[in-house]
Formats: sequence, C-alpha cells, structure tokens
Amino acid sequence: MPQGTIQQLSSQEVVDATRQLNFGTWRRQKNWTPLHVVDAEGCYFIDSSGKRYLDFSSQLMCVNLGHKNRAVIEAIVEQARTLPYIAPGYATTARAELSRLLLEVLPAGLVKFFFTTSGTEANEAAMKIARMFTGKTKIIARYRSYHGSTSGSIAATGDPRRWPLEPGGKGQGVIFAPEVNCYRCPIKHQYPGCNIACADYLEHMIENESDVAAVIVEPVVGTNGVLVPPPEYFPRLRQICDRHNVLLIADEVMSGWGRTGKWFAVDNWNIQPDILVTAKGITSAYVPLGLCATTARIAAYFDEHYFAHGHTYEAHPMTLAPAIATIHEMQRLKLVERAQTMGQYLGEKLKALAKTHPSVGDVRGLGLFWAVDLVKNRQTKEPLNSKAEKISGAPLVVDQIAADMMKNGVALQAWISHLVIAPPLIIEKSEIDLGVAALDNALTIADRHVEA
Ligand SMILES: Cc1ncc(COP(=O)(O)O)c(C=O)c1O
Repeated sequence: MPQGTIQQLSSQEVVDATRQLNFGTWRRQKNWTPLHVVDAEGCYFIDSSGKRYLDFSSQLMCVNLGHKNRAVIEAIVEQARTLPYIAPGYATTARAELSRLLLEVLPAGLVKFFFTTSGTEANEAAMKIARMFTGKTKIIARYRSYHGSTSGSIAATGDPRRWPLEPGGKGQGVIFAPEVNCYRCPIKHQYPGCNIACADYLEHMIENESDVAAVIVEPVVGTNGVLVPPPEYFPRLRQICDRHNVLLIADEVMSGWGRTGKWFAVDNWNIQPDILVTAKGITSAYVPLGLCATTARIAAYFDEHYFAHGHTYEAHPMTLAPAIATIHEMQRLKLVERAQTMGQYLGEKLKALAKTHPSVGDVRGLGLFWAVDLVKNRQTKEPLNSKAEKISGAPLVVDQIAADMMKNGVALQAWISHLVIAPPLIIEKSEIDLGVAALDNALTIADRHVEA
C-alpha cells in the first residue's frame, strides 16, 4: 500500500474497531454495535450496505439544514484554504461577518458574543459570566433539563445524567426548581387554574436563597420531553428575574435555529434573556460550534473587569465560516417559516396516532420539534420505563420502538419513555408521511405494555 493511503477497512472491521477502541456515550459499553454510516444526503443517511434511513430527529436534533448542504460545505473548504486557524486574540473576517449576522437573527439586545466548540462549553461560559457579573454564586436550574456534560453544566442538569456524578460532582452552587410541565405537573397543579405556580415557586426559591446569580432554562425543554411552556410562563419568569436582579440564561442549544418555528424559542414569547446559549443548528452540526451571547449591560461590565475565560479553539475560523453559510441558507430557503407550516402538518399527524394507540399519553410540540410521550396507563400517566431503569441499563420499550423503526428505514431519538421527532427543516410532506407511518407501525410494541 502506498504511504499515506488510508487502509480500506471492511464494515465489520470498522464496527469492531469502534466498539473496542472507543467509548459509546451515555450507555453501558457491553452490546454496543454502532451502525457503520458511510454517506448522508438531505433528510437521509446511508449505511455500509446501502440502506437509507430517514433522519427523523436530525441526528441529535442538530442537522437542521439536512445533510451535505453544498453552501456550508463550500464555506468549510474555502475557510480551510484561506485561514484554517488563528488564535482568538486576532480579528478575523469570519468572526466579524458572523457577529454582524448574529445581530440580525438573535433576539434583540444580545450584542456581545463568546464562541465555543459545544453547547456544553457555551453553558459553562454563561454560568461563569453570570457569576463574575453579579458577584453571586447560586444558579437555579430545573429538574427536567440537560445543560451539558462537563462538571459545571452536568451539575446544572436536572435529569438522571447527573446522577452518576453524585456525590462527587454534586452541587457547585446549583439548586433545582420544578420544571414547567403541564402534562405531568411536578407540583400537582392544573393549567390554567394554577396561575403558573411553578414560576411563582421559583420566585419563592430566589427569595429564600441568598446569592442567586442566574436562572438557567431551556425555553422549550429538549431531550427531557419537548416541554412547551404556556404563554404566561416566560413573561412571568422575566419579571421575577428583574425584580430580584437575577440573570435569565436561555439555553437554546436545541431549541434555537428555527426548530420551534422562530429563529429562537424565546421569540415565541417576545422575551429577552440576559444570556442566550446555543450550538447544534448554528452550523447544522457540520462543525462543532457553540455561542454564548450577552447583553450590552453584561458586556460593559467586562470593560473594566477581567474576563476570566477562554479556549484555544474560541472563535476558531473553521467553525465560524460554516455558521455564516448556515444562516444565509436558512434565510434563502425560508426555513424558519417552513418549520411553522411543516410543523403544523407533522403535529396533526402525530396527534392522530393517539386515536389508535392507547400507549400514547401525550403529543406536544412547537414548529418541527415534537415529543410522543408513552404511558402504561392514560389515567395514571405512568411512563413505560423509569429514570432508574435507564441509568441501570435495563432494556427500554422506547429502544425497541426505535430499533423497529430503524429496521423500517426511519431513525429517531428515544429517551426513557418518550420519542423526540425533530426532522431537518427541509423535510417534505411525503417524508413526514413516511416517518409517521413507521412510527404508527412501531407503536404496537408500546401498546402491548399498556395495562389492561
Ligand atoms: C439544551 C441543551 N443544552 C446543552 C447541550 C449540550 O450541548 P453539546 O452536546 O453540544 O455539548 C445539549 C445537548 O444536547 C442540549 O440539548
């Protein structure tokens, strides 16, 4: 073999090497048999046998433009030719152009930017900035949430992904509030009679905890079930934060970039966070980029105070150029508007599944961001599997559903007892029909677990 030529491995060798030499994330390692993916185009990806899969959750709810968008690929190639890397202390055309574009698409008032290479790191930056700016320590997060995998962001994660880190990683000044969840209200209220008691409870926490720097929320909760708040929630939360001089951090890693039918989910309620964090769809995930955006008030503080944060890869030119192309493609293809119209079509089709499948407890969503929540019993709303079963590695019904759909050429994300449907924003109606038909078929597996 000539020197420098990549050895062609058989598909089996690829899978074996991956399994033996790499960690599979968020799972026990035993029985991990990753599918060998060789290509992807539009709303589909293709395995080594040539089989095509409809990407019904945009991988990890991130490939918003669909696969292999030409303009984004060209931007990557062009940036690699021009200036693949320069340290963050220098000015680059890519950073200046992207920053100016961000002023156009982000919620008004977010005017100063710190770039990272993941959503996790962007949340770490947000929490550090909030603590430096306010001089306070505590962060209020909510139970049904995910904010990232590193020590600060996992400490702010309310879901069971935090559990294996405890007690070692516990705390870090984070306290948890009840989430807004009108299907399974954590404080046993009922909307609208509740008058958004979950938001008021958060105010009670702020009043009784000293030293609260910020509240961090996913405006539409992602992996934990696509929880869409009622319209009063965010205006109320904004008022509470203002009343107590507490910063509001919107984690839009998953909900941003047109996913909910607006550029950012907070735009649905016209509220302005003090810090907005995003990643994923910012480059349609073609390259790793995260963003922490702040208001002028926060930015001004650091004129005279030390900004104690940074990375070698901050504002990496290779990550910024494709973000510019992504925003231009979203504008050219009118994908934000498309997420609204296609989302309505998808939502109606998903809601119709509840008529024939007793395991469907709830169907909720916004734009092209939906969850199908599965239950053993519609009255008690008991989930098909528990959080503890997930962490213990027990077989989950939702994983059987996902496997059945893969067999039928549709890939989607499953989490404990719900499915997340979030296709690329370029999806066609015929592709939605295909995905929902595979789901319809697979839900018979869940129906078998419904209590008689
Ligand atoms: C809401 C939210 N925040 C943060 C993260 C972490 O982002 P990343 O995986 O890019 O580190 C995720 C990832 O799924 C997320 O959904």
